[in-house]
Amino acid sequence: MWLPDPALVVLVGASGSGKSTWARARFRAAEIVSSDELRGIAGSGPNDLDASADAFALLERIVDARLGRRLTTVVDTLGFDPALRARWREVARAAGLPAVAVVMATAPVVCKRRNSDRDRPVPAPVLAGQLKRAAQVAAELAAEGWDSVVEVTSAEAVPEAPAAVAPESRPTGLEVVLQVSRFPWGEDPAGWLRGIAMAADDAGFAGIALMDHLIQIPQVGRAWEPIPEPWVTLGLLAGLDTRLKLGTLVSPVTFRPPGITAKAVATLSALSGGRAFLGIGAGWWEREHQAFGLPFPPAAERLDALAAAIETIRALTAKGTKPYASARVSLPETTCYPRGDVPIIVGGGGERRTLRIAAELADGCNFPSDLATVDRKVEILRRHCADVGRDPAEVTVTVLDLPVIGEDRDDTWARVEKLRGRTPAATFAARHHAGTVDDHRARYAELAERGVRTVFLSLPDLSGAEDVSRLAALCQWR
Ligand code: UTP
Ligand code: MG
Repeated sequence: MWLPDPALVVLVGASGSGKSTWARARFRAAEIVSSDELRGIAGSGPNDLDASADAFALLERIVDARLGRRLTTVVDTLGFDPALRARWREVARAAGLPAVAVVMATAPVVCKRRNSDRDRPVPAPVLAGQLKRAAQVAAELAAEGWDSVVEVTSAEAVPEAPAAVAPESRPTGLEVVLQVSRFPWGEDPAGWLRGIAMAADDAGFAGIALMDHLIQIPQVGRAWEPIPEPWVTLGLLAGLDTRLKLGTLVSPVTFRPPGITAKAVATLSALSGGRAFLGIGAGWWEREHQAFGLPFPPAAERLDALAAAIETIRALTAKGTKPYASARVSLPETTCYPRGDVPIIVGGGGERRTLRIAAELADGCNFPSDLATVDRKVEILRRHCADVGRDPAEVTVTVLDLPVIGEDRDDTWARVEKLRGRTPAATFAARHHAGTVDDHRARYAELAERGVRTVFLSLPDLSGAEDVSRLAALCQWR
């Protein structure tokens, strides 16, 4: 059963119908607000009916607080009061969260049997009254305006192990490349890098891409954390016994004259047996340019430089040594040995010019990985391709994905809490698609359906090879 997340989830069902059991199997304890448990907190125990008013007042406060932060909230009460249900729905609406009613469709005889097995059963007439009410409530829910009403039959009450994705349903051709942006390598930089690369190769990653910055960027870490020069570092990786493609995502065109980049990429291609690729962009971070004494011209000029750089690199890495001349670039000869034809991927947020340059000159482009952005940019790219007379199939769509990946729901949220800094947890979790490997697999399948061919996966909490090894299930799509 699929439920939206984050969401308001309101449980509906008689005593013994299995509401609390169902919720505990799917949600973190902190996500479940239970009137029984609050009776035990405000009063002497879950059955302390004298504490009901206090327990429900607390429950309302907690529902407001959690939904106000757009955090998943599971309301575990009988769920029979239409006025309370309406209020919870409104609070969810106001927070922009979907509201789901989950109805336990457990047979009355089962509820009765479970009730009588309990240490402190609900009195039989009370349970009979609840069962009668439960029979009416389904019709009420249908008319109330829930985003969805889900029925839980007893077979579903106990969670099944997540179904493995059947091989025939797997989209083919998706490749996942590990993008490394943080380098917590301690005292052994080369050993750490080797460990990451060997683990990536074993796990089934198609390649490794290194971020190219001169100072660690604030989105990833602190300025004094190591951020190595990528072409030197890729040279070390090229010497390992792997099948990994190797390149940057992305090299700012402002860092190196394009001919020197062509020389580096062609050398990497030669040393790696043709596994090199080049991600290239216009550059965006003024501070690193100033700090390293590099010019940082206005965006329009940097984009002109990007287009010219791609032409130059292509000319120098293509066959032959003949002169090259175009509106942007003029070279009296193109003598560059070793040479190697290397895929060029254009990165960057721009849509009018950056994607135009990709459509005209590149082998691929790179977007953020959220589905709405992918849909929009694929369409814009398609239009640019039509304008310049390029077959869109020649421009590979790639995305940069920054997932938080937990072992389970608890671990996922512990990671969100550790990483989020001052960003609200719900915002951070959404931005990083926080979830388990299975959740991310489902999302990658959707990306593949939308035409994405390569996912560059960058772990915001990469610390070592073990973090890479546990991602094998995300890499195998063939
Ligand atoms: P729950 O305690 O989950 O029911 O299950 P509930 O709907 O939340 O009940 P109230 O409203 O709080 O009273 C009741 C009993 O049934 C068992 C549980 O282990 C528990 O002892 N149960 C539940 C099953 O045996 N199988 C199930 O699928 C669900
Ligand atoms: Mg319960």
